[in-house]
Amino acid sequence: MTETNAGSRLRIAVVIGSVRRPRMADPLAAWLERELSTIDWLDLDMIDLAAVSLPMHELQPGGGGASPIGDALAGADGFVFLVPEYNHSFPAAVKNAIDWHFTEWAYKPVAFVGYGASGGIRAVAQLRMVFPELRAATVRESVLIPMAWEHLDADGRFVPPPGTTQALHTTMGELRTWARALRPVRVPDLAGRR
Ligand SMILES: Cc1cc2nc3c(=O)[nH]c(=O)nc-3n(C[C@H](O)[C@H](O)[C@H](O)COP(=O)(O)O)c2cc1C
Repeated sequence: MTETNAGSRLRIAVVIGSVRRPRMADPLAAWLERELSTIDWLDLDMIDLAAVSLPMHELQPGGGGASPIGDALAGADGFVFLVPEYNHSFPAAVKNAIDWHFTEWAYKPVAFVGYGASGGIRAVAQLRMVFPELRAATVRESVLIPMAWEHLDADGRFVPPPGTTQALHTTMGELRTWARALRPVRVPDLAGRR
């Protein structure tokens, strides 16, 4: 790989994949935002699926209509999905958000922070089967957080168990490598390429 983009910053979008209220996603997203804000090579966008409307009945092949998060996704060089496990898979809201967009994902890397009783491993594994259809590349490393609710302090803040923060930084390093590598292969207009 050339180091052409070595010094350039990357825009990373974190997609918060739970839309429940209340939700464990809140303290985890706050921790992620705090931790990722310390990384000097990235500019961060936090995209909360609970805050946007992506009506399922408006879906077409290739995506939905004008999306409230389309620009943010299109502008990202890579993604981190904060994803809980529901019934051995990922939440329906996550699939809907993926389906609503198409070119926005193409030739970009996707990393995962999974959580749930068993750490979200099946949610993450199943997302790895979905993203190739969107021409997105999932990165090998991931963060899996079992029983996150057992790691909240008295103020409800997530206190990561040993190894979790290190795993996040390892994952982000891998995401950076892929984001840099994929940037030159992105073509400006993928419209209609279904
Ligand atoms: C509908 C539903 C199904 C769930 N199924 C699983 C599961 O199959 N495996 C697991 O490890 N945890 C499961 N859980 C536990 C969630 O992963 C856990 O409560 C997580 O913190 C939910 O995230 P949220 O509060 O941000 O939505 C389930 C929770 C819900 C609401």
